[in-house]
Amino acid sequence: MKISLTVNGGAVTREVEPRRNLVDFLRHDLELTGSHVGCEHGVCGACTVRVDGAPVRGCLMLAVQADGCRVETIEGVAESGALARLQRAFRAENALQCGFCTPGMLLTAHEMLASGGIGGRRDIRELISGNLCRCTGYEAIVDAIETVMRGRSAR
Ligand code: FES
Ligand code: FES
Repeated sequence: MKISLTVNGGAVTREVEPRRNLVDFLRHDLELTGSHVGCEHGVCGACTVRVDGAPVRGCLMLAVQADGCRVETIEGVAESGALARLQRAFRAENALQCGFCTPGMLLTAHEMLASGGIGGRRDIRELISGNLCRCTGYEAIVDAIETVMRGRSAR
């Protein structure tokens, strides 16, 4: 099937197999490898991308379902500068080790900060509960997000 969509601000038209999921389309057809593939069952959050402004699991959406949509990946959002404070805070707080979960964590954290509905660490933990990290134990990730949430300068 032929699909046309916007990816990170650029128009894209491609032939895709109907069974191709969105994250595989982004990674293999467009070489945008910042979104990762972990569980492929909607559990780990490594494949998080934005579709029409909302975070979605790229492994649970078919590429053909994104026809006509606006898709943003970690590459596009980072390049826009929107993640700069979070990226600095993650680095300062050692909130990443292997980095596999980091793109999804950053997109999720950015979304929650933009929504403004976070009261404290418990809320942060709840909001990142859909993003699994095998390395950090989450404490440093919560520290980093809290740093940005409270407007403290990220060292
Ligand atoms: S790979 Fe999509 S949620 Fe895990
Ligand atoms: S830093 Fe390795 S999975 Fe999170």
